[in-house]
Amino acid sequence: MISNDSIRMEKICYSIGGRRILENFDFQLERGLNRTILGVSGAGKTTILKLLLGLLAPDSGSVYIGDLCITGQPETSFMQQRKRIAIVFQGGALFDSMTVGENVGYRLLEEGKLSQAEISKIVLEKLSFVGVEAALDLYPDELSGGMKKRVAIARALAADPDYIFFDEPTTGLDPIGVYNICNLMQRLQAEGKTTLMVTHDLVTAFATSQRFTFLHNARMLFEGSEDEMKASNIPEVREFLEPTDNSLFI
Ligand SMILES: Nc1ncnc2c1ncn2[C@@H]1O[C@H](COP(=O)(O)OP(=O)(O)O)[C@@H](O)[C@H]1O
Ligand SMILES: [Mg+2]
Repeated sequence: MISNDSIRMEKICYSIGGRRILENFDFQLERGLNRTILGVSGAGKTTILKLLLGLLAPDSGSVYIGDLCITGQPETSFMQQRKRIAIVFQGGALFDSMTVGENVGYRLLEEGKLSQAEISKIVLEKLSFVGVEAALDLYPDELSGGMKKRVAIARALAADPDYIFFDEPTTGLDPIGVYNICNLMQRLQAEGKTTLMVTHDLVTAFATSQRFTFLHNARMLFEGSEDEMKASNIPEVREFLEPTDNSLFI
């Protein structure tokens, strides 16, 4: 058992092209406490996920997976810890030239630890968990948007991660698709996975998370529960929850 089981960032500063995306940003995802980061488009939500995974390096500050500081370390030194985290990218990021089954199993195949039969079993198990096992031999461009998202989730589950990041998993889906994703996230949580979602979709956020972080102008303007957020007097939080004509976000 890791003594401090969380993923966190401390005093992160990050700029792109001279524009400050994050300013002294502190964030913690505790194991078992499902969280959503809310913010308008371009606020820096995807950037936070990439920093937490070590896919981007901060200008200053530190990122920890459990007790291990990954900032400034070579990727090989934190591969083991990073395997505890999977990410479902916004577009799904499936390989068009591979079948659904190959997409879900390719990382296991690449690792070379399991036999083809063992991998096939895991692939079917994960596809059936997300309800698209019938798509096993189809190619991504034969799938609906909602099915693609579910295949992307199955692929994230293949390596049995403890933490799953979801980048705007419901964007572009119809209400049934949104319901399916919420339901899947809840089932994953019931199985002990810790989820971190970034989105501007409040319905999905409140249906799947206990804690909320609101990102605005490179800073964390709010952190707390749904009730605390709904009772917040912070003007930007109020505006985000109930937009008005005099938007603060322009
Ligand atoms: N590769 C890049 N080059 C230039 N600007 C970028 C790049 N990636 C992101 N940005 C900018 O950084 C900001 C934060 O991006 P992002 O984290 O993707 O926001 P979000 O996920 O909240 O929509 C945006 O304003 C975006 O335009
Ligand atoms: Mg994004």
